[in-house]
Amino acid sequence: MWLEFKQVARQIKATYSQENWIKDDQRFFISCALDFEPILAQEIQFWLKKLAPKLKPDLSLWSGGIELSLPLGTGFLLNHCLKTANRILWRIEQFKCTHFVDFEKRLVQIPWNYFCGQDTPKFKVESHGSRLFHKKNLEQSALQAFERYRAAQPARKKLPMQSPTIFIRFDQDQCTISVDTSGDHLHKRGYKTQTTAAPLRETLAAGLLLKMLNSCSPSPQSVNLVDPMCGSGTFLGEAYFLYKPLFFRPFAFDSFFICKQIPNFGKRILKELEVPLSPFKNLVGIDLDPKSIKAAETNLASIPETDLFNEDGLEYKLPHTEENLWLITNPPYNARLKRSPQTKNNEQLIEALRKNYQPSHMGLIVTSDSSQGKGVLSFKNSGIPVEFLMFSDK
Ligand SMILES: C[S@@+](CC[C@H](N)C(=O)[O-])C[C@H]1O[C@@H](n2cnc3c(N)ncnc32)[C@H](O)[C@@H]1O
Repeated sequence: MWLEFKQVARQIKATYSQENWIKDDQRFFISCALDFEPILAQEIQFWLKKLAPKLKPDLSLWSGGIELSLPLGTGFLLNHCLKTANRILWRIEQFKCTHFVDFEKRLVQIPWNYFCGQDTPKFKVESHGSRLFHKKNLEQSALQAFERYRAAQPARKKLPMQSPTIFIRFDQDQCTISVDTSGDHLHKRGYKTQTTAAPLRETLAAGLLLKMLNSCSPSPQSVNLVDPMCGSGTFLGEAYFLYKPLFFRPFAFDSFFICKQIPNFGKRILKELEVPLSPFKNLVGIDLDPKSIKAAETNLASIPETDLFNEDGLEYKLPHTEENLWLITNPPYNARLKRSPQTKNNEQLIEALRKNYQPSHMGLIVTSDSSQGKGVLSFKNSGIPVEFLMFSDK
């Protein structure tokens, strides 16, 4: 047994060095909703210009995310910045493997203590077109390898309890091991405490706002934004925080031991970043449902520029005529939430909103089966296939 411990320790030392993980750029996979990859790519470029201006990022777009090399600390800190990302995975290992013995041997050598807490991590396995395909057996094998490692390298008492989720993916016998640096899904921003019926994910809301901004050249400096069916206020919150790093919640990487070893690593750099102000200035939300307005008031309490009204959003008259008014909304789809009989079809709804607000730009989400293929983006909202329609008076 003692020989095994010594052997494991020697193998780890020979294969990995913490210094290399810190010195060399690391591979990251940043996931997002399908079809949002180009928007995420722009967002990544935007933040990297601020965080690591000398870096020439090598973005590879995949279906559902982007892979790129980054300094370790930069990859971690992007969790605070990216609004369209679902999760940030640090790819720690990649190897060809067709036998359980080899799989376990490789896993035993990973220095888990650099990023795991005292608990055993959760392994999530996926396998496509590979000789090793039995998920339960692979999970079991990973757990055994981890236990063998821990027998040789016990967790220090100082380590936090929690360990991150480890993603193991086999594709054509190529095994990739990734550490989840995010923890909770990134749409959970931490500033929203109340939800209402059929809320939109924050990551999607931010992506749609960026899509509208990207359609303008040059990018507008000052926009007044109205959401006439605002629900819990998702679009308004995202509009305000679009270019701000967020500090409302913890991330999995916060408790990684390796963070203590990265020179000058810390959140101070984010607090000192020079980022442009959000172009969205006055934020107005309207909803027919008093509970939704209450929820929005609570969620957006820290945002100074917001006005919320418990009114009919098809008829409400804004207190003053707004210059450069943009409208964005996620109206009822007539599935779980119903529309009024006068605005049952999309044309009627669009006409009513146009007439009432005369926005210079308008974006709204409708179901795919009612969009007549006119959407600029297709995605799923709570499992319902939807499209984003965009209009401008130019
Ligand atoms: C799909 S939900 C919006 C959810 C919102 N995007 C969020 O993330 O919380 C649709 C909202 O439209 C509101 N609504 C429906 N008809 C309305 C009307 N005529 N005027 C204002 N609000 C209306 C409903 O009360 C509901 O809150």
